[in-house]
Amino acid sequence: MDIKFKREDDIDSINVILEKMEALHHIKDLNTLLDTILADAREFTNADAGSVYLTEGNDLKFSYVQNDTLFKNDLLCNKYIYSNQSIPINKKSLAGYAAATGEPLIIDDAYAIPSDRPYSFNPYFDQISSYKTVSMLIVPMKTSRNETVGVIQLINSKNENNEPVPFSRRHQLFVSQFSYYAGVSIERAIMLRDVVLRMINLSELRDPEETQSHVNRVGSYSVEIYKKWAEQHSVPREEIKNFSDIMRIASILHDVGKVGISDLLLKKQGKLSREEFDTVKMHAIFGARLFQRHNSPWETLAAEITLNHHERWDGTGYPGKISDIFTEPVVFGGGKKGAEIPLSARITAVADVYDALVSRRVYKDPWEEDKALYYIKSNSEKQFDPEIVRIFFDIYDVIKAIREKWA
Ligand SMILES: [Fe+2]
Ligand SMILES: [Fe+2]
Repeated sequence: MDIKFKREDDIDSINVILEKMEALHHIKDLNTLLDTILADAREFTNADAGSVYLTEGNDLKFSYVQNDTLFKNDLLCNKYIYSNQSIPINKKSLAGYAAATGEPLIIDDAYAIPSDRPYSFNPYFDQISSYKTVSMLIVPMKTSRNETVGVIQLINSKNENNEPVPFSRRHQLFVSQFSYYAGVSIERAIMLRDVVLRMINLSELRDPEETQSHVNRVGSYSVEIYKKWAEQHSVPREEIKNFSDIMRIASILHDVGKVGISDLLLKKQGKLSREEFDTVKMHAIFGARLFQRHNSPWETLAAEITLNHHERWDGTGYPGKISDIFTEPVVFGGGKKGAEIPLSARITAVADVYDALVSRRVYKDPWEEDKALYYIKSNSEKQFDPEIVRIFFDIYDVIKAIREKWA
């Protein structure tokens, strides 16, 4: 084992780790954080693949995956990210062992683990994907209270010829150090996510349709549509990451302004009068008022989405152009049209309407998938931005995986 380090190399590596740790503190969205943690840990160890599990009760929930060999194609990878697998925390599996004992594991050959060990390698993923796992490094991540919040599992460290080689003690040391900061950042991101979901719970009291699963789906559809849009517009990677980080939270909050609307209207079966509908429209204004006067990037984006998610591409949406959303009484302006509507809201509109169509509502049964897809397609250029509709269909496999995750 190469436990003897060269000093200058170490100082360089420690500086890199410190920089990466610092960067973790600025990420808000849990998925973006897991993606970054895994990419960083793989970079330190030159690992071909890896996954992250998060603790949920007595289980480890499969939460993120990266694999350079299998997932050159991002879409395929994203399908896995939204899968719903979990394993029990006990000493039988490798990740379960690391979570149960709090100890890291180094495995030189997954197919040659001595039979006297309590754990064994599960070859299921290799079998379905024809991937060959050889070496592994499995490290638990702990919170500030020393509770295991998840596990990083790294696979196939590569040498300069791209062949899998065992992870070193040096790798273990660096990843263990890094995983402490990762754990604390995950704890913080989970806290923010939970506060946002509590806000959703509040609006759900008013409007039973704004369920956590609806908003989680809308948030994820929106992020995935944005990523594809950004890729097609050659947006720099760092900018994609930063925007995706706040897009999910902001888009999840699209209807939070409904806390200000009477539930008699929101739960009413049958058609609303014109006056009643005008009252319901105020949820866009109320939502924007919640976030408008704060200037962190995620609050600015949340204000943008809450205000504009009912605008229509052809200019017939609401609330339209309003000079000051704080002035009473609110006078709805002429609808914003085309690119006057912010991109974030054009994306959330497609995501929200699609999900509402295929979900049960007080006034309707869930629509058949084909009927909903036809609606989205035929409203391209009317209700929706045609480019966003095209991207929605481009990533339809991922949309389906998201629906299954929060079914
Ligand atoms: Fe809405
Ligand atoms: Fe919604």
